[in-house]
Amino acid sequence: MSFTNETEKQQYYMDKCREIVKSKEQALGRKLTACVVTFGCQMNFKDSEKLMGILAEIGYEETDDEHADLVLYNTCTVRENANLKIYGRLGYLSKIKQKNPEMIIGLCGCMMQEEHVVEKLNKSYRFVDVIFGTHNVFILAELLYERFISGHKIEDIWDGTTEIVEDLPSVRKYSFKSGVNIMYGCNNFCSYCIVPYVRGRERSRNPEDIISEIKELVNHGVVEVMLLGQNVNSYGKTLDNPISFAQLLEQIEEIEGLKRIRFMTSHPKDLSDELIEVMAKSKKICKQMHLPLQSGSSRLLEIMNRHYNKEQYLVLVEKLRKAIPDIGITTDIIVGFPGETEEDFLETLDVVKKARYDSAFTFIYSKRSGTPAAKMPDQVPEDVVKDRFDRLLSVINEISREKTAVLEGTTQEVLIEEVNKKIEGYVSGRLSNNSVVHLKASKDDIGKIVNVYLKEAKGFYYMGEMVE
Ligand code: 5AD
Ligand code: SF4
Repeated sequence: MSFTNETEKQQYYMDKCREIVKSKEQALGRKLTACVVTFGCQMNFKDSEKLMGILAEIGYEETDDEHADLVLYNTCTVRENANLKIYGRLGYLSKIKQKNPEMIIGLCGCMMQEEHVVEKLNKSYRFVDVIFGTHNVFILAELLYERFISGHKIEDIWDGTTEIVEDLPSVRKYSFKSGVNIMYGCNNFCSYCIVPYVRGRERSRNPEDIISEIKELVNHGVVEVMLLGQNVNSYGKTLDNPISFAQLLEQIEEIEGLKRIRFMTSHPKDLSDELIEVMAKSKKICKQMHLPLQSGSSRLLEIMNRHYNKEQYLVLVEKLRKAIPDIGITTDIIVGFPGETEEDFLETLDVVKKARYDSAFTFIYSKRSGTPAAKMPDQVPEDVVKDRFDRLLSVINEISREKTAVLEGTTQEVLIEEVNKKIEGYVSGRLSNNSVVHLKASKDDIGKIVNVYLKEAKGFYYMGEMVE
């Protein structure tokens, strides 16, 4: 077989698999079902939509139930806990498979890029049928075909890739909003982080491909896009015709029918004045910035290989607040990095108090083998870490509450996103700054941007009323 490009090749395998699935359907007298379970970040969610797109094309019906004919776990490995969770759930899956030996169990994503994981799976979890990694998500149909034909376990992990395959199918979870990859991989090598090892080197998509994907999404009813990359601020640097992230945003802003633009994640070292200017004058870019701090101690930031210090970070926050007064700033913070002293931790608390985050994700440092930090001395004792974590959380929560209260009594634009599962007759939506609002409305309002009076701030969210 010869193909002119990868998309064509994968289309061929999808067609082949569809024939096989069809004959299985006929033998069983029912449709085959597939369940894709996502762990980890927005990147993984986006990959899962592509995986489900391929499975749907092959003829599988989507289900949330893991008693399916095919179950695929798209894994995360950013912290040790994420890995433990997978091993636990695999035990549960093996019991389901005992009752349905025809069932196919697949594993993919970040965790599969670690050699010791695949070794363990091969030794102790032999019932897994297909294993692949982060670089070859797009060849799922090819791998499944091999599995169907050979009846053997298929394992295919790539060390890296320079390839970006466009135009494969995708099943979107929401009709009105969508993630859009603008780049893959990461070149930063923060000393605690495993992502560069499992997601490979930084590669930007061509702006034309991004724009045409977004136009297509808008034609299908999407009003909000989330531009995805490990470090969106360095977008475009490696392109043949380099452009900046701010320039890309300006092009996206022009797309008619698109109403909201979000992006994540921003690395403080690459956040430019140009970007702040573009955000300040934009009508579509949401007033939201996720700006991971990791630590407030300049000493630790250096050891973390973050390329900024406490003062530079605070200057960025000040610039953002000055240019975009009602911007919501959120962050990621790690507690208990090796060698973290009480003084280092107090520096982190100090930044939290000065930056006044709208919300923050806090993580206990997790040792990831293969990263430089894993070999560093002075791992902080567990009880000290726990104490610092609790203190940090209480300061963050108090500030979040105060920040949420500021918009109480104002009217804001809200994109209605889903039916509220807790209160009958209510829906939930988000402000431009990403805060959540619950209000009375019908499910037909999902996907609409409406004006909402924020009647009551309740800690981290609002109860609102639609304004005609
Ligand atoms: N331990 C704890 N948290 C980590 N993160 C990344 N690596 C680790 C680790 N080894 C956090 C960082 C990052 C977020 C996605 O996960 O805060 O911003
Ligand atoms: Fe996402 Fe990182 Fe987890 Fe991979 S390891 S899923 S990139 S958070």
